[in-house]
Amino acid sequence: MRMYDLIYKKKMGGALTPEQIAFWVEGAAQGRLPDEQSAALLMAICWRGMDTEETLALTLAMRDSGDRVDLSGIPGVKVDKHSTGGVGDKTTLVLGPIVAACGVPCAMFSGRGLGHTGGTVDKYAAIPGLRVELSQDQFRESLRRTGFANSAQTGDICPADRKLYALRDVTATVESIPLITASIMSKKLAGGSDALVLDVKCGDGAFMKTLDDATALARSMVQVGQAHGMRIKALITRMEEPLGWAIGNALEIMEAVEILKGMHGEGDLARMSLRLAAEMLVLGGAAPDLPAAEARVAEVVRNGRALQVFRDWVRENGGDPLALDDFTRLPQASHFIKVPAPRSGFVHTVDSRALGILAMELGAGRRNKDDQLDLGVGIRVHVRPGDRVEQGQPLVTLHARGPAVPPWPEDLIQVFDQAPEVTPWLLGEIS
Ligand code: URA
Repeated sequence: MRMYDLIYKKKMGGALTPEQIAFWVEGAAQGRLPDEQSAALLMAICWRGMDTEETLALTLAMRDSGDRVDLSGIPGVKVDKHSTGGVGDKTTLVLGPIVAACGVPCAMFSGRGLGHTGGTVDKYAAIPGLRVELSQDQFRESLRRTGFANSAQTGDICPADRKLYALRDVTATVESIPLITASIMSKKLAGGSDALVLDVKCGDGAFMKTLDDATALARSMVQVGQAHGMRIKALITRMEEPLGWAIGNALEIMEAVEILKGMHGEGDLARMSLRLAAEMLVLGGAAPDLPAAEARVAEVVRNGRALQVFRDWVRENGGDPLALDDFTRLPQASHFIKVPAPRSGFVHTVDSRALGILAMELGAGRRNKDDQLDLGVGIRVHVRPGDRVEQGQPLVTLHARGPAVPPWPEDLIQVFDQAPEVTPWLLGEIS
């Protein structure tokens, strides 16, 4: 088999066979194929797409390129959640303890942040002592003892995805529905869970900018999951402004704990986290339908059980549980700089991408993958689209390490005279 022929076939719009896809994926993962040939095929896939059979074959080949996590010894339906990435998205931190508190084993592997979006593993790193890189045995032990396990990828999971993602990143081939599907679903299938709730982001701050594209991506991932016997459902959610008030690692831990204490109940972050948790309960078989699941979720927040699971999980994994009740034990910034509203009016847009970049420049995120993070810095966002503001009122507070901060882009938060139409956070559902 020759890579040249595969590239030519895809360039002309043909469908690759499972054998051809396996040849490519194995060769790329093992370093046997030149990067330029993989890059050319990736670009051809971006333009020509892949049909369902090809996408399935690509997912399987990537899943089988490395280790798989075996959770079969743990009783119950193990549920996982994946979000396609956003700014200020700390739903994982909220829903893990909630789902576990409802008796459903919640097993999640998370990533580190790169560029304008944060990563759950970095947020956890703000809790003093907490181990965020678990071996497979430690991961299973955490799941057994606390009902909840969340770690950076363990072992050598999907090395083919690591290789191909790095190539996609530098060849403008990330935004392809079959490539995103295979990249995400291969890792989820290798992660060993039986059920998965997907949060597919849609909007300027997300990979998928339009509802049509987000729906197509959600369908594609649900199809692949179902073809492998997974219980799976996707929500399509809005990603224009950041989720919640916090951007930055320690700040996001604080906000997640506040939600677990029942605060900000009317906000999008709480609504979205509780809804995703409820969907996980339904897939996990712990509730007959969504209203029953939502009632259970509300109950474990109200009675403090979810927060207690979070404390237990932190202690179990070497972290300081007192930091969840006393935020002064978390990393702190040293300078607090308020950005005032330039005029009175209504907030129309809060640009999540630009805020994510600003947080990265403050030190909360990585420009390059080896950059060191400052876990205490970030941004507190005081306004949401639709809010009325007066001139001079703070729009955000920058939590910085020194008095010098990056310049504030003028149109980052737009304020106009007329009130805007505010769209809801939930845009669609696919199952
Ligand atoms: N996240 C992934 O893991 N892979 C993609 O291709 C896009 C987002």
